[in-house]
Amino acid sequence: MTSLAAPVPPVPADGPPGSVAWLRASVSRFSNGSEHTRRRSLAVEMLARVEPEALRCKAFSQAADGDAQSVVVEVLAGELGLPVVASDVVTAAAAYHPHVTPSAEAEAALGRLVAACGGPSELTAARIGLLMQACAATAGLIGNAVPLVLAGKLPEEAVAEVLRADPPVSHTRRRVDGEDVLVPLAGTPFGAGPRECPGPAHAIALATGVLAALRVTRGEGAVGLC
Ligand code: HEM
Repeated sequence: MTSLAAPVPPVPADGPPGSVAWLRASVSRFSNGSEHTRRRSLAVEMLARVEPEALRCKAFSQAADGDAQSVVVEVLAGELGLPVVASDVVTAAAAYHPHVTPSAEAEAALGRLVAACGGPSELTAARIGLLMQACAATAGLIGNAVPLVLAGKLPEEAVAEVLRADPPVSHTRRRVDGEDVLVPLAGTPFGAGPRECPGPAHAIALATGVLAALRVTRGEGAVGLC
């Protein structure tokens, strides 16, 4: 089996500043070697200043304000102090991965995000990268857990079961012998090794907050009230 320690497929480095291509070329997720190390530490430092418990409480209270992706982004961006519009994050996130051709809407949304996050720089890319990484994956975690909560499971149990049996991210990509290969993440829903997701506690907190609100909406008790 291919090791998760293999390099990620490289992305072109010549996108215009502020474009989707620029973002991919500037975030840790699609970087290798010392660039990966340096950019990853920017993301890790920012996340370290965000309390998962604050995310859980805010996700709980804001859960009714939109769909799962928007709520996740609103709450995380708020705690990171980033004045972004959630719908711009959702639109740009759909074009984040290098195998997707960005739409004009995604480029425009990303342009607004770059402006809101301080202009094109490695730090801005790290800020936006956190929101991109959180957006669909955490909404997927929530979506897969909803039927379990509706069937009576507690949010924490439902999230744990989804991570064990039905994780939202099943594969990642690596470059091996010049070929791009899909690597299954069986048993490691947050990845492993030097590129392991730095946000499991934050993701689980956001998901349990939203799912606790779902229980309350259904009159099943105020589990997780803040
Ligand atoms: C608050 C929510 C989240 C944040 C802020 C976040 C952040 C990140 C970041 C910054 C990376 C890149 C790490 C690097 O470049 O070294 C990453 C990687 C990863 N994330 Fe997350 N993430 C979140 C939620 C999730 C969720 C819900 C899952 C799935 C259960 C997930 C699975 C992964 C995986 C598998 C990788 C590694 C990909 C690889 O090795 O190729 N993340 N995450």
